[in-house]
Amino acid sequence: MNLKKRTFLAAVSTATLALLAMGMVITADTIPEAPAGFDGLTNGFSDQNVMNDAIDAFSETETADTGIGPTYNDVSCVNCHQNQAVGGAAQVLELRAGHYEGTRQHWTRDARHRFDTNGSSGTFVAATAILANGTPVPNRSLINQRATCRDAQERLTDVDNIRATRLALPLFGDGFVEAVPDATLLALAKQNGGEAIEVPVVELNGVTAIGRFGWKDQHASLLSFSGDAYINEMGFTNALFPDEAVTGVCPNANAPAPNDNQDDLHQFAVFMRSLKVPPRGAITPQVTSGQAIFESLGCASCHVETMVTAPSGTAILGGSLVIGDAIGGKQFHPFGDFLLHNVGTGDGIVQNGPDDTAQKVRTMPLWGLGTRTQLMHDAQSTTYTEAIERHRGEATDEERRYERLTPAQKSLLYQFLGSL
Ligand code: HEC
Ligand code: HEC
Repeated sequence: MNLKKRTFLAAVSTATLALLAMGMVITADTIPEAPAGFDGLTNGFSDQNVMNDAIDAFSETETADTGIGPTYNDVSCVNCHQNQAVGGAAQVLELRAGHYEGTRQHWTRDARHRFDTNGSSGTFVAATAILANGTPVPNRSLINQRATCRDAQERLTDVDNIRATRLALPLFGDGFVEAVPDATLLALAKQNGGEAIEVPVVELNGVTAIGRFGWKDQHASLLSFSGDAYINEMGFTNALFPDEAVTGVCPNANAPAPNDNQDDLHQFAVFMRSLKVPPRGAITPQVTSGQAIFESLGCASCHVETMVTAPSGTAILGGSLVIGDAIGGKQFHPFGDFLLHNVGTGDGIVQNGPDDTAQKVRTMPLWGLGTRTQLMHDAQSTTYTEAIERHRGEATDEERRYERLTPAQKSLLYQFLGSL
């Protein structure tokens, strides 16, 4: 992978200049800020009463009779997306699995050592889970951990020796992320060596856009993600995903077809598009000094501080969504680039991207970091020290510079991180 062997000062200034030239990193305060808050109030995308209805749909507990299962992970979106307010992350871990064919890659249990030493040799094959009644469920890397009847419980076999756990993600501000032009992400990828992937916009046949949601950038559209989550997390067939992943086991005659007979799918997207961005903690002088250290280490090359949404009136996602005044032309501060990188923590799973994405994960946007206890995609880091020390691969230079900080400088850096 393209390890950038520039001096970091050159890297930072080249990146900054290029981004400034494109209008992506804005230092002036002429561009309005996206509204921030964990307050359940709309950012203006929808009226408050419309958002309230959408919060209800997102928080609704489903049952086998309304359509849950036969295999699923939980009975409501809110169970995995609530902290501070509806839309936050939760400490829930999901399981993915698969194996490699024709590979010499060596896997260890310690995520620190999961390092892709020989490129993309071998082909990732998604797992075949076996239901308790013996039915194989092939070609499915997501392993559901609950079932509506004993027969449908999924188990792995020893063949699928790649197992990856992934934390649920927070949703605050995602409506702004969705409105970042593809061109911004493509230009960033050129700057910092990250990978942007084109993914299908599920609601429009044949249309693609640059992925930005999920640990693997598997979706570009919040509506696409809603349909995917509804079928894969809850076993709920819907307008975008009309087929059950698992069939012929514990059928429920009461459940409507599709299970989503009230178009909750669109409500989920309305809810997420109406969310404000996460608010910052107190900005003390120490926090400001810590931010300067963060920048001088080069962390902001991936943890990009400022992005700007496309102007109001822009049609995105193949013309299916026209950006309005509430979302359009706003700056926000994700501290992420929404690109895939190999920082030595890859989980070996390939989803919507090409084979070389196996060892890559999306830069975790650091906004809202102060509201998270377990860190990194696998929740295996608990302190900032641990999370930063796991950065290798493309982030080796930045991590080495971090190691040379004095304890006092590290303390300032952590105060900054905690304020996000
Ligand atoms: C069992 C827990 C669980 C349930 C239930 C669940 N999610 Fe998620 N959600 C996750 C996890 C884990 C991720 C990260 C997945 C990944 O990328 O591998 C995620 C990621 C997302 C993302 C991407 C966010 C981002 O910023 O990248 C969206 C959007 C989302 N979920 C929406 C939903 C919606 C809508 C529902 C209800 C239909 C839902 N989720 C139900 C666990 C869950
Ligand atoms: C090459 C891109 C890149 C650089 C440079 C980089 N990071 Fe990261 N960072 C990532 C990726 C990718 C992840 C997610 C890794 C994972 O979950 O396995 C991440 C995750 C994190 C997390 C965990 C966040 C969470 O909520 O779990 C912290 C904290 C963090 N980085 C801080 C830093 C700091 C501090 C620096 C500078 C010393 C830095 N990063 C430099 C790409 C980068």
